[in-house]
Amino acid sequence: MKSIERSNSRPLMILIAGAKGAVASTVAVAASVINDCPELIVPYLTTANNLSTLGTSGTILTAGWDSQNSTLVDAICHHGVLSPQIWKPYEAQLLQIPIRPAPDKSSGLKTQVEKISKDISHFKSLNPDALPVMVNLLPAALNTFLDDTIELPDLYDNVDTEKFPDLAYVLAAIFSGVPVVNFTPNSVEFPVICREAEKRGVPICGRDGKTGQTYLKVVMASALKARSLKVDGWYSLNILGNDDGKNLMNPGCASGKLANKTELLDDILGYAVGEKYGTSTHKVVIDYYPPRGDAKEAWDVIDFNGLFGLPMSIRINFLCRDSILAAPLAIDLARWMAAIGLTGRSGLIPELGFYFKKPMGINPPLTFEQQIRALQKLENECRQVQ
Ligand SMILES: NC(=O)c1ccc[n+]([C@@H]2O[C@H](COP(=O)([O-])OP(=O)(O)OC[C@H]3O[C@@H](n4cnc5c(N)ncnc54)[C@H](O)[C@@H]3O)[C@@H](O)[C@H]2O)c1
Repeated sequence: MKSIERSNSRPLMILIAGAKGAVASTVAVAASVINDCPELIVPYLTTANNLSTLGTSGTILTAGWDSQNSTLVDAICHHGVLSPQIWKPYEAQLLQIPIRPAPDKSSGLKTQVEKISKDISHFKSLNPDALPVMVNLLPAALNTFLDDTIELPDLYDNVDTEKFPDLAYVLAAIFSGVPVVNFTPNSVEFPVICREAEKRGVPICGRDGKTGQTYLKVVMASALKARSLKVDGWYSLNILGNDDGKNLMNPGCASGKLANKTELLDDILGYAVGEKYGTSTHKVVIDYYPPRGDAKEAWDVIDFNGLFGLPMSIRINFLCRDSILAAPLAIDLARWMAAIGLTGRSGLIPELGFYFKKPMGINPPLTFEQQIRALQKLENECRQVQ
């Protein structure tokens, strides 16, 4: 258990865009608990169970930004992810977490980047020894098309920050030499951003944390593929009642998430599911259902064919907890990126595909087996510099 602390004495500092959200506030509580009771947190980290040599100590500091004025404790109560029994003993500590206001929406991208960069310098000064990592946990945004050929000055002049609120955080992190995790479904990995990251030696990974239904989809699709069983159709339904679910009722905000949840199946299987029907038979539906709060429920109907094309079917009913699945992965990714930053890697890190619905970078691993193998290789690279 304590091996996580032995490997590196520098604390991890997770800088969170959207610090009072459901996932972020769960990360903040987990980070507060980890020093006191590592046994409540550490066994649930993928980086501790299998990758104990990965860098950074067990000490995790958090800081960040949010557009809400409420306190972090108010936010924790609002999301209802954790019972007071879990977080109450840490209330004073949680209220000390430095959370700065989001930049003024009406200001341009450059001004926003400058404000966030200043905040990052301040956070770094609070603990100069810590390894900072930016984790983007903003809501799913409307982001539409952005010309791939755009250069930084044009980006500053032309980007609509309402559609791309994440860009200011990502750019500020890159300019401050801070690795970036894009846990959201939002597009931020544009060529101009990746070029800046490479130029400044900063690693970046994303997109869209793969936490529940899609994680099991990758596992099941990889297993069916390995057995040469042919998927004929896959219907996935999600009901959830948290703020993320409410936001995803806006079709503009949901489109990125739905694309990320849908596209990966054909990529894993290597054929277009539903081709013989002339339409994709991989359907993903997300529905906001308030009674569920953060306790999301997912159903999957998987129709597939075996020998002689004879049909078979599987049902999966996953009663999960959105933020309880997401928060440890956000911590895992921050730990990975701190360790990867120390290796001198920069730009996109496709080897972290295990953690994402839409792994960004060149030739990301697609099947479950490939994703596990990629992590093991990456761990070896990280271990060599520790
Ligand atoms: N929970 C999961 O399993 C999961 C899985 C994959 C991806 N995600 C993604 O993670 C992100 C966070 O999810 P969540 O459930 O915590 O969402 P949430 O809506 O609870 O939290 C978002 C937070 O961002 C804040 N915010 C909004 N605009 C801001 C701005 N410009 N600057 C700073 N803060 C701002 C909000 O006030 C809120 O506190 C979403 O994009 C979601 O789609 C979640």
